Amino acid sequence: MLDLYQHSIDLIRTNQSANGAYVASPSFPTYHYCWFRDGTYIAYAMDLVGEHTSARRFYDWAAAMVTQRAAAVERAIAAAPYGQPAPEDLLDTRYTLDGAVGTDDWPNFQLDGFGTLLWGMREHLRINRAALPSEWRPAIELLARYLGALWQLPCYDCWEEFGDKIHTATLAALYGGLEAAAALLNTSEYATTAAAIKAFVLDHCVAGESLSKFVGSPLVDASLIHVATPYRLLAPDHPLMRNTITRIERELRRDGGVHRYAEDSYYGGGEWVLLTAYLGWYYVETGVLHRAHELLSWIERRATQNGALPEQVAANLNYPEMLPVWNERWGTSACPLLWSHAAYLTLYTLLHSQ
Ligand code: BGC
Repeated sequence: MLDLYQHSIDLIRTNQSANGAYVASPSFPTYHYCWFRDGTYIAYAMDLVGEHTSARRFYDWAAAMVTQRAAAVERAIAAAPYGQPAPEDLLDTRYTLDGAVGTDDWPNFQLDGFGTLLWGMREHLRINRAALPSEWRPAIELLARYLGALWQLPCYDCWEEFGDKIHTATLAALYGGLEAAAALLNTSEYATTAAAIKAFVLDHCVAGESLSKFVGSPLVDASLIHVATPYRLLAPDHPLMRNTITRIERELRRDGGVHRYAEDSYYGGGEWVLLTAYLGWYYVETGVLHRAHELLSWIERRATQNGALPEQVAANLNYPEMLPVWNERWGTSACPLLWSHAAYLTLYTLLHSQ
């Protein structure tokens, strides 16, 4: 039987380019890019499994990508009080594997990945008990100031959708990132911004007894798991967090795997491997280990014969009629998705270190 743990590590290693970038999916042309969001979660998993050099190479690459855009970032920060900065001054969401920015039309204004990156850098240094590399410092400072200036603007969410909304999970990533930057650079200003973000979430991102997908939405989204795990805007056992998880279980999980949100129609809106793993991670943190084990084994049963984990499984689709539409547009959905493998490794490692 194929060892999914080792295979996942090998797959990620093989698909890291020479400069350190990880491709989101080697076999799905639309994802032939590196995102800081996917990349950081992949690097985090590599750190957990002991592949520290791989993680370090990714962070070095990402830091260089940010630093080389310093002049644009400064213009964006200066423009922020007057609304969304000029598109050419925004930091980019996706990069080709040789470090250029993606050129085709794409919803580029997404802030969560920069918070995720800052969080991941701190985790890398914590896991490796390493000091802050001097060449990361300017990137961390630029990112923290950029997020501090822009966090109140609507932007695309972690699913690259709803660009006119303010998203709770995005704010959580920014919170986690700014807390990390404050700790790494010993700058209380970033912690003050993080505290303002938390206050905003508690005031504006709550629907009834649970968190909401975006300001004004009555719905939940499974990315809300990240509000606690890993970004700790709320503790995992905070009542709002518990109620949110209960709703995710009830509304977004019918048969094992976790959907993104009820109205999701991307490839019909299937069950996402990485969200299933992150729900498991939440259960590890709250000590509900039997649930975490169930979710891990659900994921293992979703691997293809070659050991590939897909982005999503076409089961219990929200909108079955949309599956052929997407198949026609972009080909069959991403498989393997490196982020899915990384999320699996994360859950596996954390569960087995209990
Ligand atoms: C997802 C993003 C992800 C990208 C690459 C998109 O479909 O919504 O979250 O970063 O794919 O995996």
